[in-house]
Amino acid sequence: MLMQQLNARKIPAVQPAIDHTQSLHVAIISDGNGRWATSRGLPRSAGHRAGAEAARRVIEAAPRLGIHTLTLFALSSANWKRPAAEVNAILRLLHEYLFAETTHCIDEGVRLSIIGRRDRLPATLRQAIADSEAATACGTRMHLRLAVDYSAREAIYHAACRFYKVTELSPESFSNVLAEVLRGGSTEVDLLIRTGGEQRLSDFLLWECAFAELVFTQKRWPDFAAADLEAAVLEFGKRERTRGALPDAIAG
Ligand code: IPE
Ligand code: MG
Repeated sequence: MLMQQLNARKIPAVQPAIDHTQSLHVAIISDGNGRWATSRGLPRSAGHRAGAEAARRVIEAAPRLGIHTLTLFALSSANWKRPAAEVNAILRLLHEYLFAETTHCIDEGVRLSIIGRRDRLPATLRQAIADSEAATACGTRMHLRLAVDYSAREAIYHAACRFYKVTELSPESFSNVLAEVLRGGSTEVDLLIRTGGEQRLSDFLLWECAFAELVFTQKRWPDFAAADLEAAVLEFGKRERTRGALPDAIAG
């Protein structure tokens, strides 16, 4: 009888809340800039510019959501297959971003790192990267990592080539070598978001995403707002992460 009464009683839906004290690594495949632009009759470069604005919004909002590391896919090594003018436009936007935002990053306690290859970047951009990284190195509120000329497979391959020198072989020591290759660290991803409707990893953080929760959204990157990031973090909070073990309810 008591059980029936309890079952009949309306239990208010619990609103999921964000744990602001958590320390999440969120990685984003920020896709859809080109389609956003062409659907408006604009050149693709306008989509990349709007995408840079979306990145600013998301970077601003991230620390309040318990995100301690944020990795954004700015330029894939595969993107060299695009027309040089488009790749150059993306690299120029990155340079502008570093120029305009480094002081802001220092003020906000954001440490900035670039992960990926640097040898194919223009020398002036390489210098700007080194300057921004040095200037923001003390930031502890959030680690912002921009993946530029980045290929996870290539990074893993280069780490494997260096690994023979390491005497203590373990997954951790391999991660350390990978971190050296990438220069901006190699930490496990908790939540991977991909905008733009495609559902694939596109050679992004393959080692670090082994147990990541994946969230795909139709929204194109320039339309992605702080509220969308918040919604993805809420969705992440609802997932049970077992890493192959049993869920708590069954394990007892
Ligand atoms: C992602 O948007 C940005 C970069 C690859 C730098 P795209 O340029 O891939 O946009 P779509 O997929 O063509 O819409
Ligand atoms: Mg794309």
